[in-house]
Amino acid sequence: MSSEHPAADTLEVRPLAVLRERRSEKWTQYPPDVLPAFLAELDFPLAPPVAAALRAAVARDDLGYVSARQPALFEAFAGFASRRLGWEVDPGQVTVVPDVMVGVAELLRTLGRDGASDAVVVSSPVYPPFFATVAEVGCRVVDVPLAPGDASLDLDGIAAALRAGARAVLLCNPQNPTGRVALRAQLEALAELAVAHGAWVLSDEIHAPLTLPGHAHVPFLTVSEEAAECGVAFTSASKAFNVAGLKAAVVVTASPRAAAQVARIPPEIAERTGLLGVLAAEAAFTEGDAWLDAAIATIDANQRRLPALLAGRLPGVACTPAQATYLAWLDCRALGLGDDPAAVFLERGRVALGRGLDFGPPGAGHARLTIGTSWELVEEAVSRMAAAVAAVAAG
Ligand SMILES: Cc1ncc(COP(=O)(O)O)c(C=O)c1O
Repeated sequence: MSSEHPAADTLEVRPLAVLRERRSEKWTQYPPDVLPAFLAELDFPLAPPVAAALRAAVARDDLGYVSARQPALFEAFAGFASRRLGWEVDPGQVTVVPDVMVGVAELLRTLGRDGASDAVVVSSPVYPPFFATVAEVGCRVVDVPLAPGDASLDLDGIAAALRAGARAVLLCNPQNPTGRVALRAQLEALAELAVAHGAWVLSDEIHAPLTLPGHAHVPFLTVSEEAAECGVAFTSASKAFNVAGLKAAVVVTASPRAAAQVARIPPEIAERTGLLGVLAAEAAFTEGDAWLDAAIATIDANQRRLPALLAGRLPGVACTPAQATYLAWLDCRALGLGDDPAAVFLERGRVALGRGLDFGPPGAGHARLTIGTSWELVEEAVSRMAAAVAAVAAG
């Protein structure tokens, strides 16, 4: 694809003034002179089938409670997983929860009731709520950082943590913030380690639908019998289809043992799911492919153009191209802005990026830029960052 001429099937983003009318966290966290690029939300218009499903629900005054039994959603997810991810899911092994992190928290609570070790492995830099959620349920984070170069899992480090008694590994794949997809061989090895040590792998695959052309997401539960035994997957339409505020996610298993563990989550948790979230997810999973293809094309074009933009405007910022997601993990250490470059970009450039240190110790000197928007707004964000650097240099 030419960097000057993105493919025709990309998405139009509405003008900034219209985006600023949104009431989501992204658009209300900062004053109006700040360009928000910190939160994993898309600026794209909703997928038409999702918008239609929501309008239809409002038109029939259908905003009541959710039942835990959602066969249409489970079928819809199984169809989507098969078509888009090469993952054959048994709809009978899918359950609904309000969101991915609630699912993770509640599954961790079921493990805690076994009275076993409270240690949970996470691999930083990683989505900040991983740390908070493990702590929220009274468990202890054991951080085994990703390999600095290719953001692969440190399997020796994870093996040591499991030997020391860790009860679970909380995997983020595709990875937030690096946008890397884990290799099948690593997932196979992780499953073997987990089974050998009687540990669970909680696989957060929320970004999988946004795997970019030329890369493949490998669903953890598919890699081996061991993975099916020890793995529980969590995913949702919320990232790819930008409906995080509607509150619906799915928990997926592929063995009776894992299904029995998920069944220990109290039924009230499923009933706290949002009905609009269920309806939106059903529409997204059954009728959302064309829009998702256009979203991926738009994100892919932005990801491909970003390195040249950074090289021109912010030389010294390093960014390994993402293989999935609309995130860009920027190594700003060469800029000399200290451990928290996002604070400088905000104060001096009026652009809000994710604070690197929130993603764990390897995030020092880093910032996360979200680029699920128009190319113009990506350029604007980078211009503001460059202005901040120039302002600091000018003293
Ligand atoms: C890796 C990861 N997991 C979970 C979430 C949040 O998902 P949910 O809103 O369903 O809890 C995000 C949001 O950005 C994420 O990046």
